[in-house]
Amino acid sequence: MSVTAVVGLQWGDEAKGKIVDLLTDQHDVVVRYLGGNNAGHTVMFGGETYKLSLLPSGILRPGVTNVVATGVVINPQAFLEEMTALSDRGIEIGELLISDRAHVIFPYHMAEEAVLEKHRGDDAIGTTMRGIGTCYRDKVGRTHAIRMGDLYRPDFLRQRLTDVIAQKNTILKAFNPTFDPFCPDDIFNEYTAYADRLRPHVCDTTAFLHRALRDGKSILFEGAQGSLLDIDHGTFPYVTSSNSSGCGIHVGSGVPERAIDRMIGVVKAYTTRVGGGPCPTELDDEVGQHIRDEGNEYGTVTGRPRRCGWFDAVATGYGARVSGVDSLAVMLLDVLSKLDDVSICEAYEINGERTADFPSHAADLAIAKPIYRMLPGWKQDITGIRRLTDLPSQARAYLDTIAELLEFPVQIVSVGPDREQTMFAD
Ligand code: GDP
Ligand code: IMO
Ligand code: MG
Repeated sequence: MSVTAVVGLQWGDEAKGKIVDLLTDQHDVVVRYLGGNNAGHTVMFGGETYKLSLLPSGILRPGVTNVVATGVVINPQAFLEEMTALSDRGIEIGELLISDRAHVIFPYHMAEEAVLEKHRGDDAIGTTMRGIGTCYRDKVGRTHAIRMGDLYRPDFLRQRLTDVIAQKNTILKAFNPTFDPFCPDDIFNEYTAYADRLRPHVCDTTAFLHRALRDGKSILFEGAQGSLLDIDHGTFPYVTSSNSSGCGIHVGSGVPERAIDRMIGVVKAYTTRVGGGPCPTELDDEVGQHIRDEGNEYGTVTGRPRRCGWFDAVATGYGARVSGVDSLAVMLLDVLSKLDDVSICEAYEINGERTADFPSHAADLAIAKPIYRMLPGWKQDITGIRRLTDLPSQARAYLDTIAELLEFPVQIVSVGPDREQTMFAD
């Protein structure tokens, strides 16, 4: 039996989906435990590309139970569309369980988010506009929250929607007097129809996971977003609204942290960030554009160009320590192959002081000047290499520097999007 967790250590999009897909064949159960359809996880094999958002990446391998656990926020329409899109492509959806404790995203969540983001103007968080933050806000606030299990209690649901929507309409109208109010009956009918279709999947996933642990099943936890987007430990307020570092696994699944045998921290060989907030190593020049072009760095969910820069060992090391990783998976190393030299940020200078600590305030991070260690590039196509020892010495030196600065071993290296383009350390 083994319980493995895969978490991103940067600002998301570290290629977690690829690693989860690769490790799925060693596990019986794959679990998503946070976020919602703000996530976009890409898996490529056999010349096909699959983009998963709410469904766990384990869905692509037959014989695996996929679990969408308590900490996920669910847009039922998006969920059903994703299931249909996969079925249409010939993917047979096996056992797929959805927590009855998971909170539900409604159209008013998107409307509220649009208004709140607009009012922040230039200082917008740059969210994915999927109603994620506003749904989590209602979860924590409790009085407006509706969970998956509530969809199967019609009297309760109708009353709750009537109360909540009256309040939401008042708030939204205050921001925009011409706003077209939401109708509780319409939303009740729409969501009851979704609930009917999802009924075979909805259950107590926490009890399921506890039984799976007791029966010695192997479980793989699939992180979404990344450690630096964590609501408590990330670059607040430019974060997502859940615990997207390793800290969120217990919270979002009900499986205790001590059950996890192996925590793999996934990092890109450089840095990307979508949305607002500081990013000290961002390159607003031709090297940044080169990385964006070579890595096809455009958001999976929103299509926005990702901000690109050098690898930041201060930020990523912090993400690794918060998440409590055992080893690193370094992804997209091939993207740097054409550069004459490559740099890694090993410390910041903030107000004239050198530090390797990650600042707790976004304003301090915004003025942090990266101090770089420059290394020679390898200037060679590495996408066909399948053994770590066959990598050019400069590429190995680059990986060794990441391991040295983060103080965690590199266990997996990826040199292309396909399943095959992956190397494992002995
Ligand atoms: P996730 O959200 O962490 O699962 O990552 P995304 O899927 O949003 O972004 C990762 C992107 O990198 C996807 O387009 C992958 O197909 C691609 N990818 C994964 N590994 C590699 C790699 O080693 N090299 C290259 N060039 N692309 C990769
Ligand atoms: P995966 O799982 C990259 C970012 C958004 C925004 C902030 C808050 O594919 O790595 P939200 O809609 O969550 O309230 O947006 O978080 N963000 C992501 N960035 N990858 C993701 O997911 C992200 N999910 C949210 O761009 O800056
Ligand atoms: Mg992504």
